[in-house]
Amino acid sequence: MKTVNKIPIWFMRQAGRYLPEYMKIRSKNPDFLKLCFNPELASEISLQPLKRFDLDFIILFSDILVIPHALGQEVKFLKNHGPLLNCISSKKDLNYMSLNKSLDKISNTFETIKILNAKKSTKNLIGFCGGPFTVLNYMIEGGTSKTHSKIKTFIKKKKEEAADIIKIITEISIEYLKKQIQSGANYIQVFESWAGLLDREEYIDFIIKPNQQISGEIRGFSKHTKIIHFPRGSRNNYKIFAEEVNCDVLSLDQTYPKELPTFLREKGITVQGNLDPQELIKEGEQIEKKTKEVLEKFKKNNHIFNLSHGILPETKISNIAKVIKVVRAYETS
Ligand code: CP3
Repeated sequence: MKTVNKIPIWFMRQAGRYLPEYMKIRSKNPDFLKLCFNPELASEISLQPLKRFDLDFIILFSDILVIPHALGQEVKFLKNHGPLLNCISSKKDLNYMSLNKSLDKISNTFETIKILNAKKSTKNLIGFCGGPFTVLNYMIEGGTSKTHSKIKTFIKKKKEEAADIIKIITEISIEYLKKQIQSGANYIQVFESWAGLLDREEYIDFIIKPNQQISGEIRGFSKHTKIIHFPRGSRNNYKIFAEEVNCDVLSLDQTYPKELPTFLREKGITVQGNLDPQELIKEGEQIEKKTKEVLEKFKKNNHIFNLSHGILPETKISNIAKVIKVVRAYETS
């Protein structure tokens, strides 16, 4: 007999620039961070993709770079440029006062989550933060970098200073996530987007340990909250990550060891992913085929359908609808 297993689905960056309704709000709100801290508008933006598409998850509209802002660093988002931060090279360069004062600066986010929680019905609600190393990367580079030369030098030459700042980022991220959970988030995702920059030894100190600390604390705080980790670019380090970091869900990009899905199944970890977002900007029938390939690849796993990275701004809305249709029609036996 065939049983129907519904595969939950959402898209990283499902709220954003590919949606005209987002662009409409954005054009009236030139200050991106201010928009993130406006609970009425931020909750409206979070719900925009769910008005168009049959999705199972709402994700909070905010950004990982609210943490440097909370810690006293200047964070701006320039048009057609992305984030711009005044570079720091030590803890002293931050205008950091205390954990509570920093959290106060970003507390509007908790109001956004409360609004979403009241409206979420049967949907899951995802809160999030950046992985500590990824946040440090933006703080040291001052924005999106091609070479990442400053951060690479920083963690080699000033290892203790780096560890010091990572410690502060980790502490505030934990408190930030706890408050998101208290406000109604039932999933949290840690976006460690630049995990792939580090070699094995650095990976253990700067990726595994802080992520381990975050999940350990969150588990102790709330047994019912599901924890998603996304150490993007981890390649051969995905396995050690899954061994060491207590996660419910591991989000995968395109490159991981062949045996990883089986390993995750045996450990009871759900796979999230991993359609290439480039597929969503192409024309033609390829998209259905690629979606089915992802479904087949993870058919023996507990699977949350998603992309291998965020939706690109030039994504065609009709392609998102196509992916969802294929996922909804897919039955596993
Ligand atoms: O829909 C969602 O996923 C929720 C909201 C969300 C945003 N950023 C909104 C956003 C989430 C979860 C993020 C995470 C984020 N932010 C990450 C981790 C995921 C990843 O992409 O690797 C990172 C590294 C950032 C930092 C950041 N924010 C960059 C580099 C940029 C500029 C380039 C880009 O990709 O857009 C942002 C801006 C940003 N964050 C936008 C949105 C909707 C675009 C802002 C605009 O309207 O101009």
